[in-house]
Amino acid sequence: MCGIVGYVGKKDSKEVLLTGLYNLEYRGYDSAGIAVKDKDKIEIIKSVGKISNLENKIKKEKVLKTNIGIGHTRWATHGEPNETNAHPHRCGDIVLVHNGIIENAKELKEKLEKAGEVFKSETDTEVACALISHYYKKEKNMKKAISLAIKELTGSYAFAILNVNEDKIYATRKDSPLIIGVKGKESFIASDIAAILEYTNQYILLEPGEIAEVDSNGLIVTKNNKKIDKEIVKTSLSASSNDKNGYEHYMIKEIMEEPVLLEKMFENNINNIPDISRFSEVHIVACGSALYAGMIGKFLLEKYSHVNVLCECASEYRYSNVAYPKKTLVIVISQSGETADTIAALRKAKKEGAYTLAIVNVETSTIARESDEQFFISAGPEIAVATTKAYMLQVAALALISYNSAKQKKLIDFDIKEDIRLIPKLVKDIIDKREEYKEIAKEIYEKDNIFFIGRLIDHAICLEGSLKLKEVSYIHSEAYAAGELKHGTISLINKGMPVFAIVTDDDIRDKTISNIEEVDARGAKSYIITTRETKLKDTTIVVPKINPFMQPLLVVPILQLIAYETAYLRGCDIDKPKNLAKSVTVE
Ligand code: F6R
Repeated sequence: MCGIVGYVGKKDSKEVLLTGLYNLEYRGYDSAGIAVKDKDKIEIIKSVGKISNLENKIKKEKVLKTNIGIGHTRWATHGEPNETNAHPHRCGDIVLVHNGIIENAKELKEKLEKAGEVFKSETDTEVACALISHYYKKEKNMKKAISLAIKELTGSYAFAILNVNEDKIYATRKDSPLIIGVKGKESFIASDIAAILEYTNQYILLEPGEIAEVDSNGLIVTKNNKKIDKEIVKTSLSASSNDKNGYEHYMIKEIMEEPVLLEKMFENNINNIPDISRFSEVHIVACGSALYAGMIGKFLLEKYSHVNVLCECASEYRYSNVAYPKKTLVIVISQSGETADTIAALRKAKKEGAYTLAIVNVETSTIARESDEQFFISAGPEIAVATTKAYMLQVAALALISYNSAKQKKLIDFDIKEDIRLIPKLVKDIIDKREEYKEIAKEIYEKDNIFFIGRLIDHAICLEGSLKLKEVSYIHSEAYAAGELKHGTISLINKGMPVFAIVTDDDIRDKTISNIEEVDARGAKSYIITTRETKLKDTTIVVPKINPFMQPLLVVPILQLIAYETAYLRGCDIDKPKNLAKSVTVE
């Protein structure tokens, strides 16, 4: 979603801000802007659409070379994407960019209007800017003004703030991430380390309520007016982590990384798998693909570890009246670790006294820091908006956790060590058959509707296959529990409609095969992904049979590649599908 970048140092600030904004493009946005400060003047340039539009405007308007500036990519929430609503916003002496949502913006706006403030945009951000400006007029002290303003704000925010009278950037946050990159006396403000990796890999994490003051002498952080010594964190990521590595899109690059990442992840975790066998009830909570990874975990835990698992999307779970019996474990899954609904679900679980385990990629994220225990999937930066490698590693993490639980409870007697050794090579072999999936893409890319069917764990895989296809190719698709189809939805099956059927669970194989026959009888064109040949005449992809915990890992890449190739043939903006954001930091 929205992205923030800021700079104070010796470089031309507009260059650093543009580099940062380009690096944040992957998060999804619909407008962008920068504000650069020179002596007693702040110049603001905004533009709708791509960062390249902003860059052209900056060149055309001959924007000054200055050493201080802030920039922003906006993903519209309050008000349509236009230049007025784009950030930075200015009220009086204050110029500000904001990530998050100010929930009480309407009430604050009414109060400020009564006090004489005039608003130009429809945004909640301008209200926050006006509030700080309001207190600055009274107090003539920025830190005081910011402290008073944030006391009144409800919702989430990360702010980078300029004041026309000071050669400084102020920054503060709550429930939206913000870091400050450091390199000698240069400082870089960012909502995401990816924005500033070209310049530094060292940074501090700003905690809620802290106010950072950044100027040409470096950085001071205070909380309640007391100076705080902050630890400098070093990331192993580098600017090259943001490269496409010769691939046309990040999505395909990230799928290709899966075998190596799986190998590393197994190696790092095999002797240190979280033991959840002591819990008598498990909730798995996440959003989107992470939720569908969780559903795979649900079926594995229920079948092999004999524990009840509730698996629910975080946006529902956070408001549900679910009970927490003693010994309830809540597993939250998130690539970014910053998904607003998942954070809220985690906080609810903690408040209810449940033990929380996070399966998470970004190690410094809110979810990683607030959960009781963490399983880091170590996927590295995932740039394509549609998740692929992180989803695969989430599934692999759940496979290890479910296997370990069943083993601890002595409910299974087989070992998966040898399979773990084989998996990276098997996944690579599957990915290497990309040309086969391209042929399937050629058959389906002009269709309007596509179905995915499967039962239990195979249905969970279908949900992800269908999501991947629809989000990158914009073809309408649905994943259905195969047995549920004839209770209504089968009426949609027409001649030639593609139906992908996943059949890997032997215990329900025959049942799903019957469902395939039912759709075939109504003219569907079925594609079966299974572990052994069937008697059916449909196009069939046979994947090697492996232990049940790891089996989904041999199916998912096929679905990811079919989605990619289909979107490619349709000429879609694969890495940045319309309306989507990489990290959904608002409710
Ligand atoms: C789909 C996709 C999303 C995310 C979801 C959760 O390809 O990427 O559905 O899985 O927004 O995001 P995280 O995992 O960051 O919490």
